[in-house]
Amino acid sequence: MDRNLALEFVRITEYASLSSARFMGRGDEKAADQAAVDAMRKAFDSVEIDGKVVIGEGERDEAPMLFIGEEVGKKSADAPPIDIALDPLEGTTICAHGGVGAISVIAVAERGNFLHAPDTYMDKIACGPKARGRIDIDKSPEENIHIISESLKKPIRDVTVVILDRPRHERLIADVRKTGARIRLIGDGDVSAGIAPCWEGSGIDLLLGVGGAPEGVITAAAMKCLGGDFQGRLKFRNDKERQRASHMGVEDLDRAFKRDELAKGSVMFVATGVTDGPLLRGVRTLSNNRAQTHSIVMRSATGTVRRIEAEHDFNIKRSIDESL
Ligand code: FBP
Repeated sequence: MDRNLALEFVRITEYASLSSARFMGRGDEKAADQAAVDAMRKAFDSVEIDGKVVIGEGERDEAPMLFIGEEVGKKSADAPPIDIALDPLEGTTICAHGGVGAISVIAVAERGNFLHAPDTYMDKIACGPKARGRIDIDKSPEENIHIISESLKKPIRDVTVVILDRPRHERLIADVRKTGARIRLIGDGDVSAGIAPCWEGSGIDLLLGVGGAPEGVITAAAMKCLGGDFQGRLKFRNDKERQRASHMGVEDLDRAFKRDELAKGSVMFVATGVTDGPLLRGVRTLSNNRAQTHSIVMRSATGTVRRIEAEHDFNIKRSIDESL
């Protein structure tokens, strides 16, 4: 995959993030999501790719979306065929409330290299490089926390597990508490939270629990770039979702997928902050019609992680729409 594409993708997440950040704290999730989706769709038109959205989002909560199967990019004769996993606004509620950690995100692989998962749920476990290959989604929370404690050489009481604050996690939370580990309960945003264990000092050592399946595939791509680990098992709410997954080519619906089965080959991960979070700073509005964005670009082929701070001057670009 052409490495220069990475910069093209940053412009797309920057645009989606600038557009949705206008709705920060305004209490309108749909409007924030729609702004991100519209911006991302439009921005893709300027990139020389033959892109196909294989991981989209929106079916689960009937939100605005870039559809699974939607073709994006300029598609000129020699445009590379690539698969795209995206979430124009990961953390719509976070953005609508001006909370912590909303991002705009795209992961990219060569054609056929992402698991084609429907917008259902996924049971997940994610950790940083030191415990890679040792965690196991089929082990109990207690066993996995012990593995993290040994790998990071810190006592269990110092291990921090991040879990989405949902009623479905009542038992999981109780099990983790029994071990003596610390818990960070989050309202939303398990992509940023799942990637966080790759940075010592992020304050998060392990992600456990059920979140969105699209977010799971995107997190697996990021972990591949950062050397962290991820495993996920699809969790269906009904037979219709099981059938949809079968039609999309998932052969074993109950399989626990490893990181490299969710994201095969060489992948790229690009994200821009919408609101301030553990991974990225959010959009800052500056004086005189300017704004600042903070993005991250990672490639599994080299393991390079770039952080890009950009200043956008809308006096010159006139409007965000001309920033492409
Ligand atoms: P959105 O981008 O759709 O707002 O997703 C936010 C999120 O918290 C994800 O990070 C997470 O994977 C998923 O929702 C969990 O789903 P649910 O809110 O239905 O439990």
